[in-house]
Amino acid sequence: MAQNDDLKALIRTIPDFPKPGIQFRDITTLLLDADGFATAIARMAAAVPGPIDLVAGIEARGFLFAAALAAPLRAGVLLIRKDGKLPGATIAEDYALEYGQDRIAIHADACAPGARVLLVDDLIATGGTARAAVRLLAKAGAELVQAQFLVDLPDLGGADALRADGVAVASLIA
Ligand code: PRP
Ligand code: ADE
Repeated sequence: MAQNDDLKALIRTIPDFPKPGIQFRDITTLLLDADGFATAIARMAAAVPGPIDLVAGIEARGFLFAAALAAPLRAGVLLIRKDGKLPGATIAEDYALEYGQDRIAIHADACAPGARVLLVDDLIATGGTARAAVRLLAKAGAELVQAQFLVDLPDLGGADALRADGVAVASLIA
């Protein structure tokens, strides 16, 4: 069995969601599996290269992984939310998605300049979301230590695009 095939087996594919032609990789089945979720978090934590001040998670599925990772890493949680949800002053970035267009935001004062940040999401596809998050964190003055994903869809090129931007990228499952 290849590395992380045990976790891959817990993810199901739903064809034509949310639009015809999209193969939706559904992680809800992994989340329902107590051992699977704990194992995924332990392996993601083990792949973090150094000390972290903040784990930045992208709404909505990214929040689950960011919060679970922040506790063992003894880091805070920085919420990267869909625009319009945060109550304080924000900075925002637009981005294109495999199946649409969106805008994400963080509180302008969420991250001290120089804070060591781990960016986390459940999945990277085109990289549009993660690259917008990287732009936001750069605007805030963060030191981005790594971007980590449970799942990478390599055919969509997002992880390679992030690496070309100079970001250290890790994922458990392709
Ligand atoms: C999904 C996923 C990533 C993003 C990846 O989120 O959780 O955030 O798409 O796609 P990309 O690499 O092409 O940008 P989605 O916007 O569907 O939101 P959700 O987490 O609220 O379901
Ligand atoms: N986000 C973007 N593309 C996706 C896909 N194919 N499956 C699950 N989440 C996604």
